[in-house]
Amino acid sequence: MADDVVTMDKIVSLSKRRGFVLPSSEIYGGLGSSYDYGHYGVLLKNNVRAQWWRAMLQERDDVVALDSAIIQHPRTWEASGHLAGFTDPLVDCRTCKLRFRADKLEEAQCGRKPSVHPGETPECDLTEARDFNLMFETTVGPVKDEGSTVYLRPETAQGIFLNFRSYLQFSRKKPPFGIAQIGKSFRNEITTGNFIFRTREFEQMEMEYFVPPDQAERWFEHWLEQRINWYTMLGIRPDHLRLRAHDPEELSHYSRATSDVEYLFPMGWSELEGIANRGDFDLTQHAEFSGQKLEYVDTVTGERYVPHVIEPAAGADRAFLAFIVDAYDEDEIEGERRTVLRLHPLLAPVKVAVLPLVRKDGQPELAREIYRDLRERVQAEYDEGGAIGRRYRRQDEIGTPWAVTIDHQSLEDRTVTLRDRDSLGQERIAIGELGEELEQRLRQPWHSPKLGE
Ligand code: GAP
Repeated sequence: MADDVVTMDKIVSLSKRRGFVLPSSEIYGGLGSSYDYGHYGVLLKNNVRAQWWRAMLQERDDVVALDSAIIQHPRTWEASGHLAGFTDPLVDCRTCKLRFRADKLEEAQCGRKPSVHPGETPECDLTEARDFNLMFETTVGPVKDEGSTVYLRPETAQGIFLNFRSYLQFSRKKPPFGIAQIGKSFRNEITTGNFIFRTREFEQMEMEYFVPPDQAERWFEHWLEQRINWYTMLGIRPDHLRLRAHDPEELSHYSRATSDVEYLFPMGWSELEGIANRGDFDLTQHAEFSGQKLEYVDTVTGERYVPHVIEPAAGADRAFLAFIVDAYDEDEIEGERRTVLRLHPLLAPVKVAVLPLVRKDGQPELAREIYRDLRERVQAEYDEGGAIGRRYRRQDEIGTPWAVTIDHQSLEDRTVTLRDRDSLGQERIAIGELGEELEQRLRQPWHSPKLGE
């Protein structure tokens, strides 16, 4: 197996250089841990979302979709336990004036030079730990009074529970069934970092799967397996993924059991996704706080129960980061170093680049004709600027799996070369067969060439 050459610095630098992810508000000096997705980042993240939707909706008939509001009734967060319990313990240092998570002091660096871990030397003057709520607070309406306080959602899950009753009525589903949603969540994290791994504004891909109580354990196991398979099917190397069950003292207030899907990021094994057995906690709480019945009633048998919930909760940004990290590679072609993203073709921002060998002799005209045809089928890019080698390198860096090159022979016999990003193999193919060939290749199972043959 090839040695991993990836570091977080290389990922950050490639992301900026090629416009995947950019520091936000850079002309004002940036805003800590806030990022914008550039052109290729948008395309890649769209593909991550699309594959998640595909696995949840298209390939199953027991999951339906939702896009709920970010700002919800404030009682939501009383019922969910977030208002009281979604806190981190904080300490302030009176010497360096910085604030740290009391439970992560050994990971933090203080503000003095040389920097130490807070509390490491007698000069560190730390306050007692205080609980700090992670929800972002704002107000609705023109008057800022007590009743106008609302929160930006810290998880998309609650929007699903609030809609459970409506879904029972219109979706014609009965447990076991799920409601899936992708959307932004917000947490006023004290410790951010590792690029887009932990930010204050991020995107979640969550699904709440409602089951008869006696089936909860079985479905928990089912979703652990499904979610690991999703990452490996999309090319993540299996030996860079693992499941880690939470210790009882680590469990969230709502959870009966949680296992994290962890990925071997450059900074070490870290959470990619959490899969939780939330029991009947949320539906019971919302039933109590809203006064509405949130239960399933079988119209034939008359049986009634509050479903239990199995929740696979993934981060779109973390998945994005894991896919890029896993794909990042460097090799050498004819003595020249190349950076290449060996992304699964389904995730690659651009599927095919169309490149005339030279900018004359009718080649650009034919290349544009081919490009116009291919872009009807897949995300394609036309590039005629610069030496062909440099254009290949550029496409390699953004992970484009295939490049079509138009040369003098193309004008004679209407064939082109089709280059493969990973094998570097080039084969001659009729222009008329290109579209079908690419679609057929996209349907093939794929594994990372980093795994070897
Ligand atoms: N509804 C359950 C829930 O929100 P979580 O483990 O807190 O569980 C689920 O979050 C996923 O959301 C995480 O595994 C991670 O991928 C992503 N996530 C959470 N906080 C994040 C942050 N500050 N920045 C980026 N992604 C985050």
